[in-house]
Amino acid sequence: MSEQDIEQYRVHEAPYYRPVGDELELYRAAYDARMPVMLKGPTGCGKSRFVEYMAYELGRPLITVACNEDMTAADLIGRYLLDADGTRWQDGPLTTAARIGAICYLDEVVEARQDTTVVIHPLTDHRRTLPLEKKGELVHAHQDFHLVISYNPGYQSLLKDLKQSTKQRFGALDFSYPEAAVEAEVVAHEGGVDAQTADKLVQIAHRARNLKGHGLDEGISTRLLVYAASLIAKGIAPAAACTMTLVRPLTDDPDMRETLDQAVATYF
Ligand SMILES: Nc1ncnc2c1ncn2[C@@H]1O[C@H](COP(=O)(O)OP(=O)(O)OP(=O)(O)O)[C@@H](O)[C@H]1O
Ligand SMILES: [Mg+2]
Repeated sequence: MSEQDIEQYRVHEAPYYRPVGDELELYRAAYDARMPVMLKGPTGCGKSRFVEYMAYELGRPLITVACNEDMTAADLIGRYLLDADGTRWQDGPLTTAARIGAICYLDEVVEARQDTTVVIHPLTDHRRTLPLEKKGELVHAHQDFHLVISYNPGYQSLLKDLKQSTKQRFGALDFSYPEAAVEAEVVAHEGGVDAQTADKLVQIAHRARNLKGHGLDEGISTRLLVYAASLIAKGIAPAAACTMTLVRPLTDDPDMRETLDQAVATYF
């Protein structure tokens, strides 16, 4: 692969990431040890942003794969394609990442079937290799290659979980919504609102997060708070902005909506 092809995977501008704990230091050490890393945490709490930031900081290209249950091993590794000149091998994203020394981020990895997930095993132990059986090639991962997966605890059933033999190939970092002051800082920065408005949005989220398991499957994420802030920054009345971004996406239950609307009305 040429430098030009690799260029497309580079993170060119420093992503805004507000550290929440010791995750930067821990990730760096894991990267230095080439220890695969698993990011655990609910939706919209900063996992993807963190990986982009680390890729930028470490100067590594980043290849992200959104996993789903229809995905096959070939979607990760590669396959033969038919074209006018006959057959041609095309590397999948995992193979490309291993060859060029990228950070490969497998997002929502539990969505993939277990027979798909096992292809990462030889890459995640001392071997650091990837056998392309159909092609008859054994790829030795570039020394800078790093594998990161995300995992949303709580969503998967017992049937849909990672095998222990997969889980136990990773060091894990827990992500959650940051403490109020830090989250407000993120919301103000990303959504373009003043500190006071950001504070109020975070307070609303705290109320809603208390309803998790009591009628709500998931609390309001940082992502949704950023959405609310961006609408407010565009001149939308705060109450309407909150209904659109913090209430309606979350639930269709009329009572729950009412409860959330009341929480919004307390602040705006
Ligand atoms: N610590 C943080 N620093 C900067 N921005 C953050 C942080 N946490 C959350 N955000 C904001 O929240 C948004 C959502 O974060 P991100 O896309 O990283 O979530 P995620 O954890 O990957 O969610 P999902 O599991 O749904 O993919 C980001 O676009 C960013 O605006
Ligand atoms: Mg993500």
